[in-house]
Amino acid sequence: MADVLYFNGRFTTTDERVLGVEDRGFQFGDAVYEVFKFVKHRPAFLFEHFRRMERSLEQLEIENPFTEETFASTMHELIARTSFDDGIVYIQISRGEGRRAHFWPEDLTPTVVAYSRAFVFPDAAKKERGIKVITTDDQRWHFCNVKSVNLLGNAIAKKAAQRAGADEAILLADGFVREGASSNFFAVKNGSLITHPLDESILPGVVRDRVIGLALSSRIRVDERPLRDAELFDLDEAFMTSTTQGVMPISEIDGRIIGNSRRGEVTTELQRLFDELESR
Ligand code: PDD
Repeated sequence: MADVLYFNGRFTTTDERVLGVEDRGFQFGDAVYEVFKFVKHRPAFLFEHFRRMERSLEQLEIENPFTEETFASTMHELIARTSFDDGIVYIQISRGEGRRAHFWPEDLTPTVVAYSRAFVFPDAAKKERGIKVITTDDQRWHFCNVKSVNLLGNAIAKKAAQRAGADEAILLADGFVREGASSNFFAVKNGSLITHPLDESILPGVVRDRVIGLALSSRIRVDERPLRDAELFDLDEAFMTSTTQGVMPISEIDGRIIGNSRRGEVTTELQRLFDELESR
């Protein structure tokens, strides 16, 4: 079934072919994106996604076609036109369409595409069971803090995970753990959280930020430092965070069981607190 699609100021459906072949998002990966969740037609952390999109656009010098208000009203209208209650919205803004050239003309008009899609979020059993992950080299470009559509490195890592019977790939570089191919990574050791600090090598995840806040207000220590890959096999607990998965326990890394193979106490508590915050 076709999904509701917003394209450059008007609503249509994904049945309509809207993009030109010389859109720079298509030819150069010259675009940024966001994914946010809605439950019972209500978007979660919309403002946080807008802020991150604004920062990604700024970094690539792409003009933001939205203000906070027009973004909110457009996204609310998109969700209001959607027939199902729960899902995600994918929004992508490219530099625009123009005759193919590496150097872009200064006067391009950004292309905006956004659509809603039904999504099956993890159920209670999966949230308790958790997921298996593999580790692999980080082959992405240097500005992973920008949510750009250059996702080839992520897609290759994710495919390797799938082929290994796992759900996610943890990306390593220079002997350190960065993040997942589409998630942030957290380790738990001696009751404290360890997660990579915000810099150009990870995406500043919306859920990551909330989970750190929840941990601090529950007096759980948070150590924002790069974890050595060797430390991965001496953890009490591990979990990943993302918009679609929330706080998701990790039960195995490269076939080795983490903790006692059951969802750990700290992970359980943060998962509970995050679910509560998200549904508020
Ligand atoms: N992925 N790191 C990477 C590389 C990601 O792609 C994502 C999100 C995250 C988590 O960010 P957040 O908590 O804001 O969802 C971390 C989205 C869901 C995606 O690409 O579909």
